[in-house]
Amino acid sequence: MERLTIPGEGREHEGLLAEMAGFAGEDADFRGGRTWSMVYWAGDEHHAVCERAHNLYMAKNALNPIAFKSLKRMEHEVVQMTAGMLHGPDSAVGTMTSGGTESLLLAVKTYRDRARRKRPWVLRPNMVVPETIHVAFDKAAHYFGVKKKVAPVDADGRVDVKAMRRLVDRNTVMLAASAPQYPHGTVDPIPEIGALAAELKLPFHVDACFGGFMLPWLERLGIPMPVWDFRVPGVTSISADLHKYGYAPKGASVIVYRDMSYLRHQFFVETAWSGGIYVSPSLPGTRPGGSIAAAWASVNAMGEDGYLRLARAAWDAAEALRAGIAGIDGLRVLGRPESTIVAWASDDPAVDLYAVADQLAARGWAMDRQQKPPSVHCSVNANNAPVVATYLEDMRAAVAHVRAHPELAGEGEAAVYGLMAKVPVKGLVAHEVLKVMEGMYGPDGGDVDLTSTQGDGLVQKLVDRYGDQVFGALERLGRARDRVRRALPF
Ligand SMILES: Cc1ncc(COP(=O)(O)O)c(C=O)c1O
Repeated sequence: MERLTIPGEGREHEGLLAEMAGFAGEDADFRGGRTWSMVYWAGDEHHAVCERAHNLYMAKNALNPIAFKSLKRMEHEVVQMTAGMLHGPDSAVGTMTSGGTESLLLAVKTYRDRARRKRPWVLRPNMVVPETIHVAFDKAAHYFGVKKKVAPVDADGRVDVKAMRRLVDRNTVMLAASAPQYPHGTVDPIPEIGALAAELKLPFHVDACFGGFMLPWLERLGIPMPVWDFRVPGVTSISADLHKYGYAPKGASVIVYRDMSYLRHQFFVETAWSGGIYVSPSLPGTRPGGSIAAAWASVNAMGEDGYLRLARAAWDAAEALRAGIAGIDGLRVLGRPESTIVAWASDDPAVDLYAVADQLAARGWAMDRQQKPPSVHCSVNANNAPVVATYLEDMRAAVAHVRAHPELAGEGEAAVYGLMAKVPVKGLVAHEVLKVMEGMYGPDGGDVDLTSTQGDGLVQKLVDRYGDQVFGALERLGRARDRVRRALPF
């Protein structure tokens, strides 16, 4: 391996930009609507205004709001516009963050620190959340030492509030739920959880990272929508991502609290550092001015009319997709139609879902594979609308092909996902996945092939270790366990 070095002499600008443009050749085609997650696209014109806004402020640093009053002003305005959209009270306050994960990490840190102040005897804090809550809560649990206690969800993916109540104990520092949750797009019963939170005097965070900039517009369009925002009295904070349906460039989310009595626990203050008194409102030190400026531009350029127009188009596309999938023999839609997420699964053992996903990937669709149950996730955007019919056509063809070739379940990524779902020791899966990460982030920046069946291939390793027979036995055991669970009266 030849070590990469910084070029001895700075390169000519046009040449390096042209080379960079070439790097994108194999990236997912989001402009053409072939991605169903990761990019929230409002078109080239909107992109251009965000780009210009970003460039105006990209050298500036929002860590120092006195030096860069412009950024403080824009952050404040974005937070307040978001709070208004979420029916926040006049006392609502918050900060911008780098994205959904940071907003959620901060919610957990804030409520842990609030409990430390108000209930110092709580030494082993926990939070009670639905099992479908975003994985950022696992990260938060890991980083901040707050145990995650998980309540089950019903067949549509809505959390069981009675189970949440049972999980609360004297060490619980917060409740959280989603509007909507990412895997199936279902909105948790926020009013009931809010009532529980108010009764138990616990803070309650609503993760609307996905839906924050979409559900309010759907409601305005007259689409039946459960109440989930600050109109629910027990809700104490909400996260809403600007870089999702706010259509801002990546690196922008908002966390809004009902009032300063909560937000104050998010701030970090250190007075003893030799570098001087240091205060920071969120996780990073340096806070990129470009992200704040571009988000401000995005919200203002969109306006309510822009958000309503794109929400209408995305919702219609999601509905068309749901209806189309319901008409495909062998597939079913998961969750409730309460958002622009469409998750679909197989309802026929002869149709291996992951093999169908492989077929669609081969036809140029970016696939977002999920588990429990095996399913595919689609976050629908307005720019997916023109390709819904083609996608459905390709789905029909993929299902037919997989029916005719059942052996495909044991090949490609279908094999990896299928095996991972069955491996008895989850720690082993984590171990193997970490190895893949180490490969990807190794000194040579290796391109790792998940499906390789040779040498270090993940599938091969799992097969070597457990063998198909073991998987079969475990699957039968799992089915028996599910039958017993279903027969139980609670
Ligand atoms: C419901 C929900 N919460 C949190 C996140 C995390 O957001 P990010 O990827 O911006 O960190 C996502 C991302 O899809 C999400 O859907």
